[in-house]
Amino acid sequence: MPLDWSAIRTDFPALALKVNDHPLVYLDSGASAQKPQCVIDSMVECMQSGYANVHRGLHYLSEKATSNYESARDAVQRILGAADPAEIVFGMNATSLINLVAHSYAAEYFGAGDTVLISAMEHHANIVPWQIAARRAGFDLGVIPLCVDGSLDQEVYRRLLRDHRVRLVAVTHTSNVLGTVNPIAEMTQAAHDVGAKILIDGCQGIVHQSVDVQSLDVDFYCGAGHKLYGPSGIGFLFGKAEILAEMPPMLGGGDMIDTVDYYQSTWALPPARFEPGTPPIIEAIGLKAAIEYIETIGLSEIFAREAELTVTLLEKLREIPSLHVHGDAEHRAGLVSFSLGSAHPYDVAQLLDQLGGVAVRAGHHCAMPLHNLLNIPHHATVRASLGLYNTREDIDRLCTTLRKAQRMLED
Ligand code: ALA
Repeated sequence: MPLDWSAIRTDFPALALKVNDHPLVYLDSGASAQKPQCVIDSMVECMQSGYANVHRGLHYLSEKATSNYESARDAVQRILGAADPAEIVFGMNATSLINLVAHSYAAEYFGAGDTVLISAMEHHANIVPWQIAARRAGFDLGVIPLCVDGSLDQEVYRRLLRDHRVRLVAVTHTSNVLGTVNPIAEMTQAAHDVGAKILIDGCQGIVHQSVDVQSLDVDFYCGAGHKLYGPSGIGFLFGKAEILAEMPPMLGGGDMIDTVDYYQSTWALPPARFEPGTPPIIEAIGLKAAIEYIETIGLSEIFAREAELTVTLLEKLREIPSLHVHGDAEHRAGLVSFSLGSAHPYDVAQLLDQLGGVAVRAGHHCAMPLHNLLNIPHHATVRASLGLYNTREDIDRLCTTLRKAQRMLED
């Protein structure tokens, strides 16, 4: 039986809102997705009848919360295809977990003469942590350049791997600006061929395509709960067991130790070693509900529908005179950044909101170097990004409102 997508849409209470007298059209899931009622309910229920601190109590509520928290780890293990839940580390967000790898792995083990490769399409979360760690440890940073279609230049990538002592490659699965889906399996193989590790920033990746960290053979893969229809305040990192085992902690505190005395301590095994203090308990439970929700709909159904809508979105946007879509890679996901003539993206986004109740993101999307590299006017773009709840009607409203905005801006 085909899925009833309009019924699925009603699972998201925010989508019933009216904005500026229009039913909300939410095209900003790339920044953060809306939440289904089951996620909201799971978090309320936790606070009402399942809440206590985890890993610390011997009473009913603590045991219940601990078991729910740990089953959230199992849920992440499932969607990433990891072999063992102990390979999943929770943190505040994906950024904090990239920082963990930058400091507890790269800065710990790399030094002068070593290189970490990032790419020209990274957002700040996968650039700045490496800069800070490089300054601390003395290793170099290299940047994989772009081809004109917005894909990564694989030839130069291989040359960089050959010509430098590359110890780690940190690259996004899917560009949050260009929508480009990178050939992760091939890039991983190439990195491994020279003995380098690879970290995949999967914030936009896991949301739009199936991931199997074992068959991809990646060393690290991270994502954010809030882009996956779960709450903000929680991110997840897959790390291969043998690599996590050798990493020291970045932050110290309760729950990450084995033994403590006044002058020295020993560490717990991963993942506890990397989860100091009281973790995001309620958020983990919400994330678990979000993963179960998308599993119930079917990940491949969600991804197939988004792929169809992406084609429509691109077609309809390209029909608008003087609208320029940034990025034309063959493999791309459901987010599209564009410029509308010489209009400032902030003006376009505000008019979309006011004239049509359409929510998009405008700015550099935390990818300032990429906007500068592409010499994009105003160093900013408008971005429409799809979630599982979007429809053809949403795309129609985006495009009719864009035409209205265009007329107003031209007057
Ligand atoms: N990096 C997120 C985005 O692309 C916040 O909007």
